[in-house]
Amino acid sequence: QDPALALVIGYLLGSIPFGLLLTRAAGAGDLRQIGSGNIGATNVLRTGRKGLAAATLILDALKGFAAVWIAERYFGGTGVMAAAAAFLGHLYPVWLRFRGGKGVATMLGIVLALHWPIGLIYAVVWLGLLAVFRISSLAGMTAAVGAPLSAAFFAQFDLVLPLMALALLVVWKHRENIERLLSGAEPRVGKRGRNGA
Ligand code: G3P
Repeated sequence: QDPALALVIGYLLGSIPFGLLLTRAAGAGDLRQIGSGNIGATNVLRTGRKGLAAATLILDALKGFAAVWIAERYFGGTGVMAAAAAFLGHLYPVWLRFRGGKGVATMLGIVLALHWPIGLIYAVVWLGLLAVFRISSLAGMTAAVGAPLSAAFFAQFDLVLPLMALALLVVWKHRENIERLLSGAEPRVGKRGRNGA
């Protein structure tokens, strides 16, 4: 099989904007006009639809997982490349004029598929920090930045640099969130009246 096909499949899977599609299908409006304007699960939560937000999180993670799994299963060892393609598909989907999401959920699926212990730590850091501080961007960025460290910890040295690149992209995509974090204006999730960033 041509490995380039795994990249195309990865990009196409990654570029499916589940948050946008689910919110629209549920008649909850255009996510890009709501809250932060992001197409991710956190912003879906700002519509007040918890089930839709959970579905977005799961599907955005699943597409990253699937891209890696398909590549490794059918295209022999191209998992990291397919992961990168899926990730870029989510961040820069051609269908949305390259204005995609911030990558936290998709990266969860990717790391779970590449080496599940890294994914487990990622999920624990992300959801743990989210539960304690209720700031989604901070929790997500910390989990992403922690992933290459976990890879080194588990001696998955070939994953360190690729995961570092993904983490850098996650941080880059959160630059508006970082500005809000620094000025104390980043909203917390699950607080009425304060979740409209
Ligand atoms: O995964 C996205 C999250 O970290 C931040 O989302 O909508 O608060 O910018 P948002």
